[in-house]
Amino acid sequence: MKTPIISLLLAASAQFAMAQAPVYLDHNAPIEDRVEDALSRMTLDEKVAMCHAQSKFSSPGVPRLGIPELWMSDGPHGVRAEINWNDWGYSDWTNDSVTAFPALTALAATWNPEMSALYGKSVGEEARYREKDVLLGPGVNIYRTPLNGRNFEYMGEDPYLASVMVVPYIQELQKNGVAACVKHFALNNQEQWRGNINANVSDRALYEIYLPAFKAAVQEGGAWSIMGAYNKIWNQHCCHNKRLLNDILRGEWGFDGVVITDWGGAHDTKEAALNGLDIEMGSYTNGLTSESEFTYDDYYLGKNFREMIQRGELPDSAVDAKVRNILRLVFRTSLNDKKPLGSLHTQAHYDAAKAIGDESIVLLKNSGILPLDPAAGKKILVVGDNAVRRLSDGGGSSELKVKDYVSPLQAIRDAFGADNVEFAQGYLAGRPMYGRIDEIPASVQDSLRRQAVDMARNADVVIYIGGLNKNAYEDCESTDRKGYDLSYDQNTLISELAKANPNIIIANITGNAYAMPWADNVPAIMHIGYLGTMGGASVADAIAGRINPSGKLPYSIPVRLQDNGAHAFDVNSYPGVITKPGDKVDNCPEQQYKEDILVGYRWHDTKKIPARYAFGHGLSYTDFTYGKPVLSAKEMAADGSLTVTVPVTNTGKREGAEVVQLYVGDDKASVLRPVKELKGFEKITLKPGETREVSFTVTPDMLKYFDDAAHEWRAEPGSFTLYIGGASDNTPAKARFTLAK
Ligand code: BGC
Repeated sequence: MKTPIISLLLAASAQFAMAQAPVYLDHNAPIEDRVEDALSRMTLDEKVAMCHAQSKFSSPGVPRLGIPELWMSDGPHGVRAEINWNDWGYSDWTNDSVTAFPALTALAATWNPEMSALYGKSVGEEARYREKDVLLGPGVNIYRTPLNGRNFEYMGEDPYLASVMVVPYIQELQKNGVAACVKHFALNNQEQWRGNINANVSDRALYEIYLPAFKAAVQEGGAWSIMGAYNKIWNQHCCHNKRLLNDILRGEWGFDGVVITDWGGAHDTKEAALNGLDIEMGSYTNGLTSESEFTYDDYYLGKNFREMIQRGELPDSAVDAKVRNILRLVFRTSLNDKKPLGSLHTQAHYDAAKAIGDESIVLLKNSGILPLDPAAGKKILVVGDNAVRRLSDGGGSSELKVKDYVSPLQAIRDAFGADNVEFAQGYLAGRPMYGRIDEIPASVQDSLRRQAVDMARNADVVIYIGGLNKNAYEDCESTDRKGYDLSYDQNTLISELAKANPNIIIANITGNAYAMPWADNVPAIMHIGYLGTMGGASVADAIAGRINPSGKLPYSIPVRLQDNGAHAFDVNSYPGVITKPGDKVDNCPEQQYKEDILVGYRWHDTKKIPARYAFGHGLSYTDFTYGKPVLSAKEMAADGSLTVTVPVTNTGKREGAEVVQLYVGDDKASVLRPVKELKGFEKITLKPGETREVSFTVTPDMLKYFDDAAHEWRAEPGSFTLYIGGASDNTPAKARFTLAK
């Protein structure tokens, strides 16, 4: 038993200990006080150490002070399997398989911010359970060319759609105490020459097209970190680009988080020190002993950085600024005592992946063959490699080790009865490898094609499930596609199948647009993203009509590659050119974004080049009609707003969801403006016969363009048109108003 004196002494010492507890460890102290306190206790060596990697996917904490390391993981469609400490091999852990969520183009195709929130929450819980502090994603580079190998990781061609969709993902992810790392900032819009290409783009295109989703991620999403891109802008690498990071990201947008390099994206100590970068990643060592030839300290933000500070060539403030940002991130993530516990591949996560996948499927064409009634007992032939391929494999850094994966073939067999479903491979695609591909002999492809076509003659219905995959030169990091056609001679295969059996449904899986020369000869086409763990079930349910497709294209599908704005010009526009004769191929190619602001549907509309399937297009098993829009006023004051309301009716026979899209166009402008630009959308579900009034508030901000010379947004008084409908090329509800002087 304690005597009163001992109790008093104990209480006093506890109070003393509390009074002495450093502010940085006081979870209730303001975060900036904790940052300053921790910073004041650190040596220069400790500060510099925090600014670079200590392994492939972690950066050091301050062991002496108990400040933990930061653990990072790819991203963005699930939490990547554990990578070795010091090389790119997988570590063969047995507890790191996860849920593969749909790729971000598929998320964007839902046009439903609630799906983004569900996605961020679910992937965040998995990242938290796997004890990650930073998830390397989401990616919001704008879809400029269908050849970009990484389009599937991003949210499509429109800055407004990407902005609206990225915000809830980040907010919900970060509630888990896991930082989003929004990537790749900026203009990493192709993989070819990504490490060095100098992208030349006007300020107007930058501010109107390429930056808004990053800005929304930072200002509305509150992203805690951002990843610099590999490429250059204004002749300076993006990972330490003064204008991009100091002036725009931190200056104009007020970003207080951490800038992380893309892996190996730093190239210069002085620039890295002064131009807004915080952590250099992507380095390695050959030993980590005192005999090592080089260590993690031997890169741009290591020893060189420290010595330049010691010699007075760089100010102390250069390292302090970085460490402040990094400590802030530590307090938000690894040293956050309020974060939840997380969870891994739960039923709830599978349900989330399925719900997102369901809503993302885009029905491009249907002359009535879909949905297929499972009760009809038809003999079905499934053809195509993607019916059986695990598409979570390959693709580069977004590759995932999945615990479960439902293939489309399996799900179709489950839905229609195994006895009714036969399978023909149709073509071989080889293994998903990085930077190289298997060469498949033409004779092999020929015989597989002949076999599939023969089998098609005897089927009632053919379901073709091909498209792109995650192999190099397909939808894959580090390489761009070699052309716009589907690989493995799929065009010949599809055309021959359609001749052999006109009851053919094309259900292609892809993260990109591709040529469809056979589009007029097939009765139905579905455009399906990489849907992950539950993808096969979504595909089967859409075909069987258990769900009603409601996805809309987040990018245009041009008829020909040269119908895309980036490809309407010479090689200067894509892929860029080597300007200095004698330079090595990847020494520093130059590229001009010649289509400027006319990206995607902005190009198709303005140049009057119809897409095969336009941005925003997507059919349903029911029909929607748009009534006459009503404006709250015919004139808008320069600082005012108005409302437009349009009735939308489900005129078909089953319940369905429609994405009501609002585009705005300036009828007469002093500068080139796109015919129309997306400024609002709402996804609504209607029962047969039901009508809903959908309203949008229109503000002067929606009417503005970016004036390069004045460096400001500007709306010109005069007449504007509102275009409302279910696709960028189908806006039956139009209304006009005037913006007053
Ligand atoms: C990719 C990043 C990725 C990083 C780490 C880079 O090559 O561009 O997106 O997060 O590797 O895997």
